[in-house]
Amino acid sequence: MDSIDAELSEEQRLVRKMAKEFAGDVVQPLARKVDHEHYFPQELIPKLGELGFLGVNVPETFGGAALDYVSYALIVEELARVCASTSVIVSAHNSLCIWPILAYGNEEQKTRYLPSLAAGSTLGCFALSEPGTGSDAARQTCSAVEQDDGTWKIDGVKNWITNGPVADVCVLFTMTHPERKHKGINAFIVDLKNTPGVTIGKREEKLGICGSPTSSLMFENTFLPPSQLLGAPGEGFKIAMATLDGGRIGIAAQAVGIGRAALEDSLSYAKEREAFGKPIAEHQSIQNYLADMSCRIDGARLLAHRAARRKDRGLPYTKEAAQAKLFASEAAVDAALKGIQIHGGYGYVKEFNVERYLRDAKITEIYEGTSEIQRLVI
Ligand code: CAA
Repeated sequence: MDSIDAELSEEQRLVRKMAKEFAGDVVQPLARKVDHEHYFPQELIPKLGELGFLGVNVPETFGGAALDYVSYALIVEELARVCASTSVIVSAHNSLCIWPILAYGNEEQKTRYLPSLAAGSTLGCFALSEPGTGSDAARQTCSAVEQDDGTWKIDGVKNWITNGPVADVCVLFTMTHPERKHKGINAFIVDLKNTPGVTIGKREEKLGICGSPTSSLMFENTFLPPSQLLGAPGEGFKIAMATLDGGRIGIAAQAVGIGRAALEDSLSYAKEREAFGKPIAEHQSIQNYLADMSCRIDGARLLAHRAARRKDRGLPYTKEAAQAKLFASEAAVDAALKGIQIHGGYGYVKEFNVERYLRDAKITEIYEGTSEIQRLVI
C-alpha cells in the first residue's frame, strides 16, 4: 500500500484505483491529441458519466455516485495526471455547476437538473467573471431586472467560462441592486441551449489546458422565469464564494495531478538518460530536484485532502481550500519547470509531455481565484 492509499478508506482506495485505471487506459491515449489539436474529448463524456465521475457528490436519488469530497479530489488528481484538460472539464462540471444546485437548489431544480448532469447527458458551467470583473467578483455588471410578471430580464457578458462552448446548464451570477453591492447579486440556473437571447462567444485559444473549451457567454434580452432563481434574491455572492471554496479543492487536486506527472516522467527519464558515465538520476543535482518536487507535491495533496475532509465533516474549509489551491498550484508550476530542466533540450520540445505540464499548470495559479486572491482569503 503506498503512502496515499494508507490515508484512505477502503471505498476511497477503490475509487482511486478505478480512476487511475480509467485515466491510464482510456484518457491517456487521447491526451496528446487533446493538447496538440485543441480537441474536446467528447467521446469521454458518456464514459465519465457511467463511472459516476460527472456526479461524484450527487446523491443516488438523483442518479449520482454519492461519494465524498476526498474521493472527488482523488478522481480529479488521477485524470489530471494524464490529461489536465479532461480534469478541468470534470471539475468545473462537478464543483462549479452541480454543487451550487445541490447546496442551494430547491427540490424541483434538483430533480430537473441533477440526474442528466450526473449522467453526463448534459454538461455544466459557471458564469461569474466578466470582461472587466475577475478578482473583484462583487463588481458584477451583468444585470437581472425583475419584470411585472415575475420574470427576470438578463443583459450582459460573462468571460472565461470553462465548458462554455459545450455546456447545457449554467449557474449564472447577475447584479440586481448595485447600491446593495454584494448583497444585490442573484444566482440563476440557465438552460443555455434553449433560452432565447443567449449567445456563446468564440472559443478562446489558450496557452494550456487546450482541450478544455473556454468562451464568453452573451445575454441580451434574455428572459428567465422565476423558477430559474437559485437560492434567495441577494444570496448570489454568498453562493458564488461558497461554490469557489469547493472548486478550489478540485483545482488543488488538479495541480497535484499535473505536478505528479512532471515528477513521474522526470524520474523515468532521469533513470534512462546518461551523462558523465551514469544515469543522470545518480547525479545529486538531479536527485535534489526530484526530492524537492516530491515533497511539495505530497504536501499539496495533504493540504487538498485536509480541506476535502473538513468539507466532508461539515467543518469550515474556506481557508484550508485557499491554502491547498495556493500551495498546490505553485508546486505544480515549480515541478513542471524542474521537470523541463531535468529533461534538458528534450523538455523544451513537444516530443515529450513535460512542456505541456508547464502550460497546463500555469492556469491553476489563475482560475477559480488567482494566487494573490488565495493569499488575501488566507
Ligand atoms: N463563503 C460564504 N460567504 C462568503 C465567503 C465564503 N467563502 N467569502 C466571503 N463571503 C461573504 C462574507 O461573509 C460577506 O458577507 P456579509 O456581507 O453578509 O458579511 C460577503 O461575502 C462579502 O465578503 P468580502 O467583503 O470578504 O468580499 P469582497 O468583495 O472583499 O471579496 C474575495 C472577497 C475573496 C476577493 C472574492 O471577491 C473572491 O473570491 N474573488 C475571486 C473570484 C474568483 O475566484 N473568480 C474565479 C471565477 S471562476 C473561474 O475561474 C472560471 C471557470 O470557469 C473555472
